Amino acid sequence: MCGIVGYAGWRDAQPILLDCLKRLEYRGYDSAGLAVAGTELQLFKSAGEIAVLEAAMPEMKGSVGIAHTRWATQGKPTTVNAHPLADCSNRLAVAHNGIISNFMGVREELQKNGHNFTSDTDTEVFPHLVEAEFKDDLVKAVQKALEKVDGTYTFAVVCAGCDQVVATRRESPLVVGLGEGENFIASDVTALLKYTNRMIYIQDGEVVSITKDSVKIVDGKGNEVRREPQKITWNLEDAEKGGYPHFMLKEIFEQPDAIHDSLLGRIESVEAEPFFQNEHFSTVKIVACGTSYYAGLVGKYIIEELARIPTTVQISSEYRYSSVSRENPLVVLITQSGETADTLGAAREAKKRGNKTVGIANVIGSAITREVDHTIYTRAGPEIGVAATKTFTTQLIALYLLAMELGTQNRSLTAQAKRSIVGTLRNLPRSVQDVLNQASEIEALAKKYSSARDMFFIGRSINYPIALEGALKTKEIAYIHGEGFPAGELKHGPLALISRDSPIVAIAVKDHTYEKMLGNISEVSARGSPVIAIGFEGDTELPRYVDDAIWIREIPPMFSPVPVIVVLQLWAYYLAKARGCPIDKPKNIAKTVTVE
Ligand code: G6P
Repeated sequence: MCGIVGYAGWRDAQPILLDCLKRLEYRGYDSAGLAVAGTELQLFKSAGEIAVLEAAMPEMKGSVGIAHTRWATQGKPTTVNAHPLADCSNRLAVAHNGIISNFMGVREELQKNGHNFTSDTDTEVFPHLVEAEFKDDLVKAVQKALEKVDGTYTFAVVCAGCDQVVATRRESPLVVGLGEGENFIASDVTALLKYTNRMIYIQDGEVVSITKDSVKIVDGKGNEVRREPQKITWNLEDAEKGGYPHFMLKEIFEQPDAIHDSLLGRIESVEAEPFFQNEHFSTVKIVACGTSYYAGLVGKYIIEELARIPTTVQISSEYRYSSVSRENPLVVLITQSGETADTLGAAREAKKRGNKTVGIANVIGSAITREVDHTIYTRAGPEIGVAATKTFTTQLIALYLLAMELGTQNRSLTAQAKRSIVGTLRNLPRSVQDVLNQASEIEALAKKYSSARDMFFIGRSINYPIALEGALKTKEIAYIHGEGFPAGELKHGPLALISRDSPIVAIAVKDHTYEKMLGNISEVSARGSPVIAIGFEGDTELPRYVDDAIWIREIPPMFSPVPVIVVLQLWAYYLAKARGCPIDKPKNIAKTVTVE
């Protein structure tokens, strides 16, 4: 999982490539490199973040080039293994995102034929394969080289003396940006928004060649492909920090708008538009990874409540090991990026099993949308911070909408119940804004507990997955060992771990679990752990049980995960800030994981 950009145009390529590359740093940041193809190939790489590369690199002259930011999969994150990688003659350079699964055999064969390898990467076979095929047509040479590699990839290739960037993809993202007298390629549209909003999405197996004034796409059989560009409505500001110190904080504060946009045009009518005419599903299976998986766990409660359909939730990488269900479930694949390899693999497996599939994705035109029968877009806009925030809350919105849809189709939802749900959904942006207005109080509280080494999060029912997501945020951003539990499970083991130094964050909104939550809170405070509770405003009982509390405005409990998780996002953010952590780029984690 890496980020790639390419440029062919009328300006110097180097500053543009660096600028675009910085917007892809969320895809990986353990090493970076840049190649400019003038009469000779100029290549510079370094271990570390893009800033390290920028500080050390010489000026490069030329208006065609590629750049890469890496998240290592094969070979350590060293300068030698950084991309782009060159061929023997230092004429060609290749940047790669993905994994070449058969690289060992290919490498041995190339070595037998006299090719010299300098890195431990799988990628390096590709420049050598292209070199072996290259006479005078770079596109043909790339097509020939592709015949020899298996796996997943986006490749971008430049060659000294050529005025083009050639790129191709298989199960990794690739987009072309169209400019005036200049064209671009990138792993993600956000890299290019400063320069253009006209994009063409390249499909699996296609090879594209850009020069300063042409874009040519050919499919796997060599036929020319004509595709209209799409106009991207996200603007540059959406992809920049807009005055906030971190993308994560900006994205947390964008949630009222993101939720509003995700509902727009979808709840105006009580009559829903069915995805699957006359289809009835007796079970639902939700499949996802990471934060999207926790959204799926919340989705189980929502779908079971609103549509009365038994729902199971599975981690994408485990899905293929599950037995084939006799019930022919609706399979729901949740992925903000739409590119997570494990989730794409699960989508294909679901298709193989003959199941109908719905994708919940944020990135328009991303790979998942081509794998599923129907996509619900979350409309959160680009999310750059590695920790998912606004994409999580909008995934919950998509799940409420899906559950309403299913409940309408199987008639478990009355028109009146739907009207009331729609009313609550409409008010969610306001509930979230109320939480955001308390950011400074949450910051003060987070500071108070920021020296903790361990932190436990507890909740019941629909807020149990929110406890898990709160713990994940705290782990990945603040580097505090955070664990989430269903509150009822504490007595079955975790109580052995708690102490005065391990604060407990308890989600104790007034719902059918409230009394039991008070009991669980008493169990931990009796053993000396400080308790920070999240409760409904106006609750006079809860303060007697806890050390500190954060209040949210009362809403129907089924919707409480939305404001509660916003509290926990701010909690994790301010813990991380107090601890001086690199909030937008936590160590060892990438936002989009395109390897299995
Ligand atoms: C990575 C990210 C997580 C994300 C997960 C799934 O692990 O660090 O924040 O939740 O991938 O990503 P997806 O794009 O499929 O939702």
